[in-house]
Amino acid sequence: MARSSTVHVCSECGVQSAQWHGQCPGCGAWNTLVEERITASRGDAGKRPGLRASRAGDASQRAAPRRLGDVGAQAVLRMSTGIGELDRVLGGGLVPGSLVLLGGSPGIGKSTLTNMVLAHLQRAGHRTLYVSGEESAEQVRLRAERLVLEPPGPPSPAHANVLALPGARCLRPALEVPVLAETDLQAVLETLAAEAPEACVIDSVQTMRSAELSGAPGSVGQVREVAARIMELAKAQGTAVILVGHVTKDGALAGPRVLEHLVDCVLQFEGERERPYRELRALKNRFGSTNEAGLFEMRQGGLVEVLDASARFVAEATRGPGSVVLAAMEGSRPLLVEVQALVAPSELEQPRRVVSGLDRNRLALVLAILHRHAGIGTGACDVFVNVVGGVRVDEPGCDLAVALAVASSSRGVALSGAPRACFGELGLTGELRWVGHPERRLAEAAKHGLGEVLAPMGSGEGALQAPTLRAALSACLPRGSGSGRGRRISAREGPEVALVGE
Ligand code: TYD
Ligand code: MG
Repeated sequence: MARSSTVHVCSECGVQSAQWHGQCPGCGAWNTLVEERITASRGDAGKRPGLRASRAGDASQRAAPRRLGDVGAQAVLRMSTGIGELDRVLGGGLVPGSLVLLGGSPGIGKSTLTNMVLAHLQRAGHRTLYVSGEESAEQVRLRAERLVLEPPGPPSPAHANVLALPGARCLRPALEVPVLAETDLQAVLETLAAEAPEACVIDSVQTMRSAELSGAPGSVGQVREVAARIMELAKAQGTAVILVGHVTKDGALAGPRVLEHLVDCVLQFEGERERPYRELRALKNRFGSTNEAGLFEMRQGGLVEVLDASARFVAEATRGPGSVVLAAMEGSRPLLVEVQALVAPSELEQPRRVVSGLDRNRLALVLAILHRHAGIGTGACDVFVNVVGGVRVDEPGCDLAVALAVASSSRGVALSGAPRACFGELGLTGELRWVGHPERRLAEAAKHGLGEVLAPMGSGEGALQAPTLRAALSACLPRGSGSGRGRRISAREGPEVALVGE
């Protein structure tokens, strides 16, 4: 009987079929049939009762539109997750009844982060529930035991010692979180309905299985069904749900990609597993900005927010040939990161271009501009560019830093002058283009003792403004000597390399 309650629908043409086919019988596309549950409401929806009622002029049944100004806009009460960086990315905390999808590759720390969130919420007096489909309750407990949460109030060095004492349960709020190790959707829904938690984590959405569908857990049909049913219940009882989802090799949220339109917020947890830094970004957020990013570090006691990221990256910067500090923007927050480049003769016919933390195509563009407009050719060389610390910089303002790092490595000369930072986008004609928030970038650089900031024209007071890539290069990589005073040279090189600043 269970079989007859589902139908396979082609995601391309919408053809319905009782059986699964590799090729759609309607449009001939491959692998497009997705199993779906037949619900009564779906059948009714086709009849469009609202339309019929209005045609019949039955005012009592008609849903009347309201002026937007008359719609009661209640202030959204958010629950603080106790983790400042996460709250900021969410737009101020978890919204009751909202559905958040947290994606990331295996081992990145999704379970650790969600455990910590529930522990904080539980301590703050909220009802929580952790549903684990991947690990047994014992495994979840083992992780929870490792988590060290800052006690409320000012941090004390004695905290770690206190934790070791027997009877320190209250200081391990992670152990107070109720856990349910279950993969059956119906059982999870029943528990959710009975417990009515204020916040719930489903780890992960790909392990849940609805018995009504025949597809394997993690298949598109199952994932969609699981999310839709959980959402229905969560919205009805005001539970904030965090769905954990895995990411495929090519970086897309496997299966959960189909959930992106359904959920209120899509968070991506990224970083390199071997490195301690993890970045949390919002790809979609109905309750806040998608520009925000939070930085964490994986430590022995769980994830720790990195609040002084700029200070760390600046202190760690090598300032050798190929090292440049970039004043980047992470959403609304300025961040100083070190961009490193290595240019080395290649033995390959097609030299390598390896980037990490940047867009590969941007490097190709910067190399072409360097060649064409600054005479720095890298055609016979391997070029490696890395944003140090596993951070990802997705903004055009990184172009100048990449160009300077490549040029500096190519010449084997470190940037000259005072410790400096830079930012700016490169145009195809070799000009340096204005990018957003120059004042915040400059302030951040000044805060961390980087007195000189190479920047595009129009970046404001305090910047060493260069109109073109060549001008920027001659300011910090003067020809002939590795230690020349960049700013002085500009006057001799004519108007093209004129620098405005200070
Ligand atoms: P996990 O949260 O299980 O990752 P995911 O759910 O995304 O697959 O944990 C990721 C890694 O973090 C794991 O390899 C062990 C490490 N870790 C620590 O270094 N310190 C800790 O306190 C914890 C809990 C985990
Ligand atoms: Mg996990």
